[in-house]
This record gives sequence, C-alpha cells and structure tokens, in this order.
Amino acid sequence: MNRLEKLPDINYAGDKMDLNGKTALVTGASSGIGKEIALQLASRGMNLVITARNEEKLQEVAGSIREKYGVNLDVRIIPGDLIDPATPKKLFEMTKNNNTHIDLLVNNAGFGHIGDFEKEPYDKSYRMNEINMVALTSMCHLFIPPMLEKGEGGVINLASTASFQPLPYMAVYAATKAFVLNMSLALWEEYRERGVTVMALCPGHTRTDFHKTAEFPEGKIQKEIVLEPDVVVKGAIEAFLKKEPLYVPEEQRSFLQFTLSKFIPLKKRLGMTADIITRGFPKR
Ligand SMILES: NC(=O)c1ccc[n+]([C@@H]2O[C@H](COP(=O)([O-])OP(=O)(O)OC[C@H]3O[C@@H](n4cnc5c(N)ncnc54)[C@H](OP(=O)(O)O)[C@@H]3O)[C@@H](O)[C@H]2O)c1
Repeated sequence: MNRLEKLPDINYAGDKMDLNGKTALVTGASSGIGKEIALQLASRGMNLVITARNEEKLQEVAGSIREKYGVNLDVRIIPGDLIDPATPKKLFEMTKNNNTHIDLLVNNAGFGHIGDFEKEPYDKSYRMNEINMVALTSMCHLFIPPMLEKGEGGVINLASTASFQPLPYMAVYAATKAFVLNMSLALWEEYRERGVTVMALCPGHTRTDFHKTAEFPEGKIQKEIVLEPDVVVKGAIEAFLKKEPLYVPEEQRSFLQFTLSKFIPLKKRLGMTADIITRGFPKR
C-alpha cells in the first residue's frame, strides 16, 4: 500500500463548500454507490434530486432518507434512462423549471463488462460508452455553467481504479473510466479558481450490483480488497470538501498499480494486468 503522490498546495477560490441546505443531483441513485452518496449527502443536510431507471427503487431510497433525516429535506425523484440523449436535458429543464439550483452534481450512473472484447455484446458495449462517457459529459456541460455563474459548486464523477491503466478483458470499461478521470482532472484545473471543484472518484472493488451486471465469474473478487459503499463514499465526500481533484480509497492505493507500474515496460505491464483480470476465468 502506498499514499498517492501528494499534490502541492494550490490556491482555490472560496472556502470549503457548506453542503447544508444545498441541493445535489445524483445519477444512478437507485442502488450501490449512488444510493449511499444520496444517503450520506442527506445526512449532511443536502436536498436531493435522485435519478435512475428504476422508479420503485428510487422511491425506496427517498423513503429511507425521509425516515432517517426528517421530512424537511426535499427529495425529488426524476426517473430517466441515460441511454436516451434527451435525458440530461430533461433533468436540466425539470430542475430549472422548478427553480432548483444544483450545487453538486454526482455523475455516478455507469456499468462495466468483463470478458473477451469480441464476445462483448455490441449493444452492451455501445450503451457503456454512451452512459459512462457521453451522458456524463452532457450532464457536466449543462449543470456546470450555472455553478460558475454562482461562483460555487461541485461535480463528483465516478471513475475507477480501472482508469489508471489499460485493462485487457475489460478493455471498453477501463477506457471509459480513463476518459472520466482525464476529463475530470482537466476540468478541476479549469474551474479551481472559479469556485467549482470537479473531482474524480476512483474506487476499486466495492460491494454493489456492479460485478453481477458486469458478469464477473462467481467468487472472482473473493481474494480482492472489496470495500463497502459507505466507506468509499465517506472518504470521497471528505476529499471533495477538501477540493481534491482525485480520490482513491486509502485501502485500494496499490504500490504496484500506482508506483511500481511506472517502471515496468508496457508489454510486460499489459501481460501482468491480463493475468490479474483473467484469474478465475475458465481455462481456454
Ligand atoms: N462497484 C465497484 O466495484 C465499482 C468500482 C469502481 C467504479 N464503480 C463505478 O461506480 C458507479 C456506480 O456503480 P455501482 O458499483 O454502485 O453499481 P450498481 O449498484 O450496479 O449501480 C449502478 C447505478 O447506475 C444506474 N444506471 C445504470 N444504467 C443506467 C441508465 N441507462 N440510465 C440511468 N441510470 C443507470 C443504475 O440504476 P437503474 O438500474 O435503476 O437505472 C444504478 O443505480 C459506476 O459508474 C461504476 O462504474 C464501481
């Protein structure tokens, strides 16, 4: 384990963002990390707009937020499928028409797939690109300008530890997350002096429905470091409040991945990563 390289102290505009009474929009809030983000932001007094495809699950999330943190919080549900290019605009228009300013945008919705590239269903691969990258970028385009106008705000984009290197057998997923990481870091720099923090959240394995959706073989992540969503989210919100550009949970900052790998020749590195990913795959 190793700490990531510490960034030099930099001047930011404004104080630490006070979340209490402000509003966050969380995509993919019906389960896993997104649901936990909604719960923890509510515990800090934030009003919420939560979205995903499964309206019933969103109702359950809203119900437990109201039960736990009181009826004074405003929790709004806007169901939507981010594969539809009209959905980001619909979310933007609906919050605007309701005079709701989004102070914090959490682009969490996303999914992955493990296996041979040529066997990845065409449709699944296409949807992965659309949701993980295109919809996320549209959401940033729409919701950041009003934050800049106010001189305060934030975006948390869900990247992954998969963002940091090519992943054979998760080629598309890792590439979408590399996109998210790079765009977020670039925007962090563009906006840091204008009061808006854009942070990439890069968890490793987290106990959610992710692995089932991605078709991981049974038991594949048993020997890996798997964190609970509440641990990942607690650290992420603290890092965001410190205006960090990037957050990887401490337990998942691997010395091999972040430090040693820089000294391993590319071809060797690709082979090593392929071996790690295919551990537990049926023999060919
Ligand atoms: N769990 C991990 O190990 C891990 C590690 C690194 C990064 N991540 C990232 O964390 C994020 C959240 O994943 P998770 O682990 O919490 O998995 P999850 O429990 O499967 O949650 C995925 C969320 O995305 C939503 N979603 C999926 N497709 C959507 C679509 N077409 N339109 C709108 N919403 C959609 C789902 O809601 P509906 O099904 O209701 O639409 C669900 O709320 C993803 O971006 C993932 O890549 C996860």
